[in-house]
Amino acid sequence: MHPNAAWEFAKDILHTHFQGVTQPMFFGHELTPEDHTTRRGKPRPSILATIDLLKKLGGKTIVEIGCMRQPLTHELDEFNPVCCNDGHSTAFWAMTGLAVHSVDIDPACCQVAAETCGACPNVSIYCADGIEFLRQFSGVIDLLYLDAWDAIEGIPYAEKHLEAFQVARPKLARRSLILIDDTDVAFGGKGRQAIPAIIRDGYDLLFVGRQTLLLRLD
Ligand SMILES: C[S@@+](CC[C@H](N)C(=O)[O-])C[C@H]1O[C@@H](n2cnc3c(N)ncnc32)[C@H](O)[C@@H]1O
Repeated sequence: MHPNAAWEFAKDILHTHFQGVTQPMFFGHELTPEDHTTRRGKPRPSILATIDLLKKLGGKTIVEIGCMRQPLTHELDEFNPVCCNDGHSTAFWAMTGLAVHSVDIDPACCQVAAETCGACPNVSIYCADGIEFLRQFSGVIDLLYLDAWDAIEGIPYAEKHLEAFQVARPKLARRSLILIDDTDVAFGGKGRQAIPAIIRDGYDLLFVGRQTLLLRLD
């Protein structure tokens, strides 16, 4: 495989969604509400780029750890930095029409996701621990979205996201994508331990910022 193959595969789609977007990095946990709302990057461009790349790859199955917990009070193509900081990810995956399996440990979040995606027969919501869910999952994963344990001091978020990747690893399609949220905080945040392990598994890094996207082609 040519060393630039992943970039060649992805670059036009990334240019489309990231034009004019700059994403600051925050190295601690102590972000102010103002930082969260107005300074941080938002998941939207990376989610849209990931969907286009997944379609280009011919992927069929999305597995998400960490359902949307913020009710969607507007159209999906509208953007409001106050409301869209988490990302509404489940709603975006739902609109692809692909098979979406989304799990959350909190029944209230599962309810938000289930109500939002109620009209989408391609979406299944599970109320369970993400790692246990991945252990039981018997399908092939084309896109793994890791966005569960919050990047807050005292929570083993880096370890848990690494563990989630390790459990999902044998179920990932050879050609697949892994997207991780909150990698712009706390020295890599949710991806601090997972990203190096994912790269060692043959994935190329496509971008780093609020979210990190990795692609394996061969
Ligand atoms: C940042 S939110 C997810 C946001 C969502 N992806 C979006 O775009 O709106 C993190 C979610 O992970 C869930 N979570 C925390 N620990 C978990 C675990 N052990 N297993 C599954 N979900 C978990 C939380 O309940 C919360 O809803």
